[in-house]
Amino acid sequence: MSSSTNMTKIALVGGEGIGPEVTAQSRRVLDWFATHRRVPMLLREAQYGLVPYLATGKVLPEDTAQAMDEADAILWGATGGPETKEVPAEARKAGGLLSLRSKYDLYANLRPIRATPALSESSPLKARVLKDVDFVIIRELTSGIYFGEPRGIETLADGQRRAFNTEQYTTSQIRRVARAAFELARTRKRKVCSVDKANVLETSIVWREEVTALHEEEFPDLELSHLYVDNAAMQIVRQPSQFDVMVTGNMFGDILSDCAAMVSGSLGMLPSASLGPLDRYGRRKALYEPVHGSAPDIAGKGIANPLGSILSVAMMLRLTLERSEDANLLEKAVDLALFKGARTADIAEAGSQPLSSTEMGDAVLDALDQVAHDAREKA
Ligand code: IPM
Ligand code: MG
Repeated sequence: MSSSTNMTKIALVGGEGIGPEVTAQSRRVLDWFATHRRVPMLLREAQYGLVPYLATGKVLPEDTAQAMDEADAILWGATGGPETKEVPAEARKAGGLLSLRSKYDLYANLRPIRATPALSESSPLKARVLKDVDFVIIRELTSGIYFGEPRGIETLADGQRRAFNTEQYTTSQIRRVARAAFELARTRKRKVCSVDKANVLETSIVWREEVTALHEEEFPDLELSHLYVDNAAMQIVRQPSQFDVMVTGNMFGDILSDCAAMVSGSLGMLPSASLGPLDRYGRRKALYEPVHGSAPDIAGKGIANPLGSILSVAMMLRLTLERSEDANLLEKAVDLALFKGARTADIAEAGSQPLSSTEMGDAVLDALDQVAHDAREKA
């Protein structure tokens, strides 16, 4: 047996836009954990997007596909931006993010929403609304209107175009993502809020019935509530501290998670995890990525906020590597760096001198040294 069998395999795929810049900072953080905490992992970097397309004709070349197939966890950067124009739509689609979510069946997308006190000035919401906000949106990621068939654009007899998509959910698709939400709530404040549009849509009627039935059958000890999606959007802005775990379908989750992102002050701060089904060894494939996109307007300038990606590493430590102590350490270090005033341009106050992506990486590594030292003193 090779000595690498106990190592968790991690593929680092920076991708396009600001993806490679932020992922480079996460790599430094991962190296810190390998060195200082002996976290057993094998890191493999792989390319995605325009660069490999120009070299191989594929946005997702063989080598990258293999690295991702073999990985226990993928740390993804970003895709899209102006590069999109240089890659024909068909080539883009073949290895696109949606097809990867589908290929690895990454049905449970966790998007934690936390208000960091140090950043309350960067949020458009009032400090009193931000108090105690700490919840997770679980978005179903492999079904719903994003993938439903039939879909298309047709030309009618009168020359008009008619475009159509299909929203659909099966019992098992609803139940498995709801189960993920209930299981997570059990480790937190024990409250699940399910979001739908059951006053209008059949998919939502069945969604609500199945979530309710699962709750009664397997999780009666937890609190379950339901909100219509329009009301949920309003409640996220009115009183976000009321939520613990929110579970919803693909498109509602896409929209609500951007809305909720403003709680944290910047889209640049938000991490995410997308989890697949358990395999026979009790492990699940996972893809971790910052919620921000490729941010083409600042790509290549070295000024992007790497914290969304770095906090995604914390989720990886907790969920794939099962090193919750290390995950806590990293989240503490990010808080400490922010508390000490480290700010990239997206979260900097007017008139202050913002840090580059690398300097923010330095600040997190310094903070890691400090929190690790403090933890040792305490022990
Ligand atoms: C997200 C993004 C994607 C989505 C886009 C880039 C396809 O907005 O991950 O939230 O809609 O799922
Ligand atoms: Mg989105």
